[in-house]
Amino acid sequence: MSLQLERTDVLIIGSGLAAVTVALHLPDTFRVLLVTKGRMTETNSDLAQGGIASAYLEETGAAHVQDTLAASKQTARADRVRLLVEAGRDVVRDMEQYGVSFDRDGDTYALGREGAHGTSRIFHVGGDETGRHVMATLRDRLPNNVHVMEHVLIDRLLQSEGRVMGASGFKGEARIQIQAGAVVLATGGVGGLVDWTSNCRAVTGDGLVLAKQAGAKLSNLTNIQFHPTLLAVETPVLVTEALRGAGATLVDAKGRHVMRHHPLGSLAPRDDVAAVLTAFPGQVYLETSRVERLAERFPKLAASCRAHHLDASSIPVRPGLHFQMGGVAVDAEGRTTVQGLYAVGEVAETGVHGKNRLASNSLLECWVFGKRVAAAVELLDCDSGEKGGTAYEMTDEVFQSFRRQIGKWLTISPAIDEIRSFLENTQQLTRTKHVTRQLAEQTLQLEAARLLAHAFMEREGLDEPIGTARSTDTVFA
Ligand code: SIN
Repeated sequence: MSLQLERTDVLIIGSGLAAVTVALHLPDTFRVLLVTKGRMTETNSDLAQGGIASAYLEETGAAHVQDTLAASKQTARADRVRLLVEAGRDVVRDMEQYGVSFDRDGDTYALGREGAHGTSRIFHVGGDETGRHVMATLRDRLPNNVHVMEHVLIDRLLQSEGRVMGASGFKGEARIQIQAGAVVLATGGVGGLVDWTSNCRAVTGDGLVLAKQAGAKLSNLTNIQFHPTLLAVETPVLVTEALRGAGATLVDAKGRHVMRHHPLGSLAPRDDVAAVLTAFPGQVYLETSRVERLAERFPKLAASCRAHHLDASSIPVRPGLHFQMGGVAVDAEGRTTVQGLYAVGEVAETGVHGKNRLASNSLLECWVFGKRVAAAVELLDCDSGEKGGTAYEMTDEVFQSFRRQIGKWLTISPAIDEIRSFLENTQQLTRTKHVTRQLAEQTLQLEAARLLAHAFMEREGLDEPIGTARSTDTVFA
């Protein structure tokens, strides 16, 4: 098989807001290569609806800090939250300079509100199509020193003497090796590992596997957030929390408020609402009669309802996998514990979310920490030879049966017996050196799921920490 060789200063893996923010802010003297597994627009950022939380119009960031910490039940790192919120006060002005045009009501910004926010501070674009608009505008502004390659699957990082100095994988079906002075992981979370998710299906934990292989520390992988309201149809889509901020309420089939016992009602923190809805015995609906100009303010939702012949005044919803708060451990500049390797966005654990992320703080995190990573990146010499890798040897049928198994345990209350049997079954797989792109991609997904499975076992006191030799051997034998 032919091998394409590339050399760059900074390799960014991923194409969502975290990746694009880094690319926009690196010095223009750097050669930057941004690679993505599918098309450039196949990202969770493009799917983002609610918007970007910012205390831009508040006198201080104190209330936003407090809401972020309260939503996390005080498990987020206060110093990092302060950093996020204070730097995040500039996000609106910053993005406007790149041409992003936030929605307005006359002379003022049209602010949204979401669960656990004490006030309206969500800036949005095109109603509930914020992600698509923001990303299209910012991608258009990528400078000439940034080269984009689509359909590139990275399946391992190149290393020498403990340092990361590039990556290798597939471009289409052909092998590619990229030498780089620094590598930035911006690969997102793990939502695409299961069907009941708000996430883009391409987002399947690749960055966790790559970081782990390179010896980087991972932390709090089991801190996974379930969004309470996905449209309850076969291929679910997100129904933004901003709809509840605009007056929609969660009701049962008889119209009774499902969140009536919570002091914040339907606008309670996301984890609380998702837990109640998961345990709820019947179908839950979003009752929207109090939402003014729904089709104009939530065009994406209105289109989804039309496509599924659903009445937008009473929308059936159910929770689904949404966001991973844990991930690759980083410092405040996105440095991982391995030299030459940085992580940013959902794949990274900056500590700003703790066990439950406050709504619309994720795009904010991508921007704030993306800028910090861009400012911190140091280029190292890169010169490494190709090292052959392996993948699990399996048919597509076997892979699909493992995927179905993942869907059974990667839920709001993970089933330990299912996890154990998934680990045992995948442990039986043998490896092949004849790695095709499909096998590489499927292997990454199973390895990401195995990392999560070990993390859940460890949380239950049933496994050794994932950083120990045994589980490393188990996952990457
Ligand atoms: C939403 O619009 O409900 C999701 C926003 C977020 O995940 O922060």
